[in-house]
Amino acid sequence: MLEPAWWQRGAIYQIYPRSFADSDGDGVGDLRGIGAHLDYLSDLGVEAVWLSPIQPSPMVDFGYDVADYCDVDPTFGSLADLDRLIADSHARGIRVVLDWVPNHTSDRHPWFLASQWSREDPRRDWYVWRDGRDGGPPNNWRSTFDRVGSAWSFDRRTGQWYLHSFTPQQPDLNWDNSAVEAAMHDVLRFWLDRGVDGFRIDVVHKIAKDPLLRDNTEAARRHDEDWATIHDRVRGIRRVVDEYPDRMLVGEVYLLDLHRVVSYLNTGDELHLAHNFVFLHLPWNAEAFRTSIDDFQALAAETTWPAWFLANHDHSRVATRFDDGGHGPARARAVALMLYGLRGTPFVYQGEELGLPDADIPPARMVDVDGRDPERAPIPWRPPSVAGPGAGFTPGEPWLPLVVDAERLCVERQAADPSSTLALVRGLAALRRSMPVLQTGAQRCLEAGSDVLAWLREGDGERVLAAVNFATVPVPLHLGAELPRRARMALSTDPDRADGEVDLHGLALGPSEGILLRL
Ligand code: GLC
Repeated sequence: MLEPAWWQRGAIYQIYPRSFADSDGDGVGDLRGIGAHLDYLSDLGVEAVWLSPIQPSPMVDFGYDVADYCDVDPTFGSLADLDRLIADSHARGIRVVLDWVPNHTSDRHPWFLASQWSREDPRRDWYVWRDGRDGGPPNNWRSTFDRVGSAWSFDRRTGQWYLHSFTPQQPDLNWDNSAVEAAMHDVLRFWLDRGVDGFRIDVVHKIAKDPLLRDNTEAARRHDEDWATIHDRVRGIRRVVDEYPDRMLVGEVYLLDLHRVVSYLNTGDELHLAHNFVFLHLPWNAEAFRTSIDDFQALAAETTWPAWFLANHDHSRVATRFDDGGHGPARARAVALMLYGLRGTPFVYQGEELGLPDADIPPARMVDVDGRDPERAPIPWRPPSVAGPGAGFTPGEPWLPLVVDAERLCVERQAADPSSTLALVRGLAALRRSMPVLQTGAQRCLEAGSDVLAWLREGDGERVLAAVNFATVPVPLHLGAELPRRARMALSTDPDRADGEVDLHGLALGPSEGILLRL
């Protein structure tokens, strides 16, 4: 087996900086807060952290509206704080990946202010300006945020409309203009020179649109994203990153069609990894998961490396999303086993390792334009009964309410409890680290009935059998006869399951249980 790259070995952990840890008491997380918890990240065995945006921003979309690509927002600290965080992380063998938002800037970015100033400004064409049609916007494109409606806003000063795929405060850059492309490449070099190990590319499929700006229709392919020019653009980005050794690109390819997703990976000179949103949107159903995993494998080229994730800062958390019947917490544990046990890179969203549910946010405390506050609640570090209402996240007033059950779910409690979800995720990371077959072994899904997802990992003389019971009742494990009768339990999501030798023929999985067995 080839030596895996760092971004293949173990988990990439997503930090949402506003909600990770607050060092200065303003109620919002910051870089020094992250730096103060590097021991936690080491103990979790993460290979890398990906930080959601930390650049200066008016925070209309909480950092995904960037007003200066080459600095740090004072809410989060300074460039010097980031340099320190990179150095301290590297000293522990943890890589640092930044979020890069190439599709749009903030409307306060100097580029947009100039562009908006006059039709003659040299920056005018850095954004997408058009005359209206019949007194309305230039075409029928819609913002990704339902609440916003049309993707166009009218600007009185110059009498034209500008395009924004998200809020009106996030004007889309014009990637058809090569000066924009060059400027954005320089942004990458700025961070690569500072030692950043890679980028998560925000809505990468959006940086190529039909230059004729034709209407979207029900029947035809969408014109406002994933246009044919995308692949050359991604290749251009990859070339910049390849000027530096050992860096990585992961794209937020938010396309619900695996054929399209793998097209960003299969050529080998575009993205290293892509977030697979088909997987994220699956129902809790073993056959659905199996089909999706098999489909990805069937469509992927030999060199294509999968990535698995089921949570981020834009979607309801696993423990809540799959909580029907109260099974959310057990399913969150099974999900962790899948992420670490499948062939591919696990992406873990902060708090998933604690099995956190969404927080209940009263309407008056909702601050996000798209209602994504519940999954963005701050991390509870210590019991509120000891540390106060900030639960060790902040000595001040947290910017969003914490989860109701912070007392029981907080890091301090879980770290002291060998049966906790945190202990399970630490165990999974350690097992993956110690077993090359879990990192790079080949993978094959097995026939295991309609309730059980089972797969085999094989390589270099090692074999691991993984199985997850999606049912809420015990299910006997029925597998093909090709497997040996005896195996060793390496790990179970059920803390009461004994390890040691098991007889595969008599084995039943508990409700929502996931197991890893050495064959
Ligand atoms: C991505 C981000 C999301 C943001 C949007 C616009 O989907 O994950 O948080 O609102 O892009 O930048």
